[in-house]
Amino acid sequence: MLLGLAAVVLCVVLLYAIVAPSMDFSSPQPAANPQNQGTPVAAAPAGVEEEEIVDGVHVASGLIVAEGFETVRAQCTACHSGKLVAQNRATRTGWKEMITWMQNTQGLWPLGDNEPIILDYLATNYGPEETGRRANLEEVEWYILELD
Ligand code: HEC
Repeated sequence: MLLGLAAVVLCVVLLYAIVAPSMDFSSPQPAANPQNQGTPVAAAPAGVEEEEIVDGVHVASGLIVAEGFETVRAQCTACHSGKLVAQNRATRTGWKEMITWMQNTQGLWPLGDNEPIILDYLATNYGPEETGRRANLEEVEWYILELD
């Protein structure tokens, strides 16, 4: 008898669990709200993904967004991906040499007034990586290790 009652209760609970999610008791029907009708949903402008920036990096080109970015993007992504630029590290002189090499062998045009802008950008954002050991610790409180 008690077992039978328990089984019925269980059935009702299960049935409710199945049916309840498909029933909406609270939210008003959209049609009942005239102010909602005809409101255009703002569509994302075409090409917006092209401009996506994540963690300061322009996703499409792979280049860091900083001073000179637009110039570099315009001058340095015509023949190859900006990612080829971004995966390199060099000093300003090193970058100048790479540009000269491309001008001499790959048909890169003279950069004119853009060259210093580009070199500044590259040396600042894609300078040689810090290597070697970390900097010395400062303001450390030393203590005597007591061994007994
Ligand atoms: C006229 C076409 C052209 C333009 C514009 C151009 N490059 Fe290149 N670049 C090349 C070619 C071709 C290569 C060789 C690609 C390869 O090895 O597959 C190259 C290679 C590179 C490399 C790789 C070098 C290496 O040693 O691996 C870097 C870095 C680079 N370019 C940076 C730049 C920068 C910075 C600019 C903008 C100032 C730029 N490129 C603009 C044609 C160009």
